[in-house]
Amino acid sequence: MLMSDKLEKMKILGIESSCDETAASVVEDGRVLLSNVVHTQIDIHAQYGGVVPEVAARSHIEVINPVINKALTDANLTWDDIDAIAVTYAPGLIGSLMVGALAARTLAVVKNKPLYPIHHVEGHVYANFLNETPPEFPLLALITSGNHTQLVLFHGHGDYELLGQTQDDAVGEAFDKVAKIIGLPYPGGPSIAKAALEGNPKAYALPKAKMPGKYDFSFSGLKTAALRAVQREVGVDFTFPSHELAARLNDVQRADFAASFQRVAVETLVDKAEKAFHEYSPKSVVIAGGVAANLELRRQLSERLPIEIDYAPVNLCTDNAAMIATLAYYQAQKIDPVDPYELEVIPSLSMTKTAWA
Ligand code: KG4
Ligand code: ZN
Repeated sequence: MLMSDKLEKMKILGIESSCDETAASVVEDGRVLLSNVVHTQIDIHAQYGGVVPEVAARSHIEVINPVINKALTDANLTWDDIDAIAVTYAPGLIGSLMVGALAARTLAVVKNKPLYPIHHVEGHVYANFLNETPPEFPLLALITSGNHTQLVLFHGHGDYELLGQTQDDAVGEAFDKVAKIIGLPYPGGPSIAKAALEGNPKAYALPKAKMPGKYDFSFSGLKTAALRAVQREVGVDFTFPSHELAARLNDVQRADFAASFQRVAVETLVDKAEKAFHEYSPKSVVIAGGVAANLELRRQLSERLPIEIDYAPVNLCTDNAAMIATLAYYQAQKIDPVDPYELEVIPSLSMTKTAWA
């Protein structure tokens, strides 16, 4: 059955397991959220200060079936009600991706459902479409996750161009690394955002990278500058081990570093988004990916861009399967599902190589 025959009340089960969240969700017509189950492994990885790929894959295996079943029961649905399955196939940790993809492929065969492979980063953008009034094209998307920092211009569904991206670290990675240096728990983004509430964002002067590419980003210099500033503050030189710095900071200094870093990281993102907005005059602007949960980013963006931005709920910015099911709804209208026997995961795949329309 070509999915274009069934576009009304189309219920798609999304599955996501690319990193450290095992998630399943049912979305109707790409806009009504019927269930959204997210099992996070944060507690498991926090003791290591970051995601351990082998541990992540094993944890996905343990919970994938209960998570999928819960998505169906929370939505009060049975398999008969599901019209299609969507799964993240790229990019991500290979072992993690494989668990979700194998589950989805097996279910597509056993339950006889069409299967849509979804690009995780493109999926993040669709958290903003899970809305009665989805954003309009042309749409400027600022994508800011643990592994990606990109400005992408969407002309339509599946039709987009990359304006610029980070040339080194992703902004989320910088949040995570700076949090580690100043002694805040993993994941660093929410920890820094929380600590920053108590801090002075002008306490420490940190630099903004100047990039040759108009819309390119760089965050590794900011991360190193934060490290040097902390070393200077506690009176040690650059050879001092970074993991011993946190113990020498007091809470005021920690909050001031969090606020100062957050201000500059967010300003760097907003500077480029503002420039792109004026060059391309999009009809809507969205932010996507884990760092889009950051309230200071939302505040600065709304202050500086002369357009109303309808932000996605914070829980749909970090990894989830609702965004995967939402994007699949739009794909189902334009392209055929894949053969479940053939689907392979791709750990590293740029979103802009996957434009599908
Ligand atoms: O999109 P995501 O959940 O996973 C990836 O696809 O990478 O993004 C995770 C990233 C992490 O770096 C995390 O620290 C960051 O998003 N993050 C935040 C916030 N919540 C999550 N960064 C800043 N402020 C937040 N409130
Ligand atoms: Zn993500």
